[in-house]
Amino acid sequence: MLLHKARLNGDSVTDMYAYFRKFGVKKADILFTKDSGMIPQNGLLLDTILSYLEMSTTLELELALGRIPSGYEQTYLKNVKEIAKLLESNHSSERKTVQIPSEPYFSSDHGKLYNGDCVQLLKLIPDESVDCVFADPPFNIGKEYDDGVSDDKSFSSYINWCMEWLDECVRVLKPNGSLFIYNIPKWHTYLSSYLDGKLNFWDWIAVDMKFSLPIQNRLYPAHYSLLYYVKGNKPKTFNPQRMPLQTCRHCGGEVKDYGGYKNKMNPLGVNVSDVWTDIYPVRHSSTKNRKFNQLPVKLLDRVISMATNENDVVLDPFGGSGTTFAVSELLNRKWIGTEMGNCEIIKDRLENKAMDIELLKKVYEEKNKLFPDKVKELRRKNGFWLAEDFITEEECPNEPEQITIPLP
Ligand SMILES: C[S@@+](CC[C@H](N)C(=O)[O-])C[C@H]1O[C@@H](n2cnc3c(N)ncnc32)[C@H](O)[C@@H]1O
Repeated sequence: MLLHKARLNGDSVTDMYAYFRKFGVKKADILFTKDSGMIPQNGLLLDTILSYLEMSTTLELELALGRIPSGYEQTYLKNVKEIAKLLESNHSSERKTVQIPSEPYFSSDHGKLYNGDCVQLLKLIPDESVDCVFADPPFNIGKEYDDGVSDDKSFSSYINWCMEWLDECVRVLKPNGSLFIYNIPKWHTYLSSYLDGKLNFWDWIAVDMKFSLPIQNRLYPAHYSLLYYVKGNKPKTFNPQRMPLQTCRHCGGEVKDYGGYKNKMNPLGVNVSDVWTDIYPVRHSSTKNRKFNQLPVKLLDRVISMATNENDVVLDPFGGSGTTFAVSELLNRKWIGTEMGNCEIIKDRLENKAMDIELLKKVYEEKNKLFPDKVKELRRKNGFWLAEDFITEEECPNEPEQITIPLP
């Protein structure tokens, strides 16, 4: 909000800091409010923020940030009709006209990729036409992306921006379709409460984060959050995902005690829980398509296989290196996506699928199996039980959906 006001005043960011310095407010305190979104309760910082914004009360500031402070709910509720009228009457003049490229940057039999700002481009997509949304936006942690892509917005601009693209995603989602957002927990606490009035909370998946750096005076950050929401009472598609039992890589023995229930274990593996510890970041240059973030094929395979069926439509507003589109193609899903930065990388990846085919084959070597083939061999050698030891032919579970990965 301060930056917005600075822009309105024709001030540079340095001018804005100079204004605060004049009143004895340190830059570090301003940066704290920018990053935390917290309004100071009282004191010099609050007074100077209000005077810079030309506001007289904290109430004005709270309203400007879209918050109704506690104690004002009754008055607010009594006046919603008038407030709605006031907002509606000004809304049409606020609408910006935008230039939207109608031609996709790339298209295939399965999907279309648009090069540009997702908030604008999502407007091209008709209401209720998408079965699943997967969004992995920048986390606003000051990372480098292509020119024109900012990863250092103020607290409120980031949240407001997320609300804008989320509104579009909610609009285009079919009834009972699924929405997934991948982000850090800090942002998800806010995005989750925004979505709560619009979609149905389904799961908060903790994706175990490998090789992160410790942050001083905080608990070691060890997970990303994958928020899972549904448009309606339950997901239109939920294909349970199964993974192998955790075993010791040296001897093949189970690492947890399964309490003597081994004869009841499903030979297709254990149900995936809401803590995913088997996803590894894409780091090696042989599998990385670009220098910026790229999610692993395994993560997208799990989400897309779980929440969609063949020929369903998957939307990703933040294409990045194109992982969602590559996996959708190989799993025979339709897709649509946008990317504001370099789209050539995505085009290249979708035109040359050999690497993704190999990666996906590796995923399927372990998927829907209680023990992958190599582990089976090791367990046999060391005298451990296998699922086959306990099941008769009649008890054999139905085979899960098999994918046919197109050969390069
Ligand atoms: C975290 S990366 C996504 C990585 C992707 N999931 C993958 O596996 O490769 C976020 C991407 O969003 C893009 N982006 C940022 N703002 C955008 C916007 N307004 N519209 C479209 N794309 C945007 C960035 O250029 C970046 O490539």
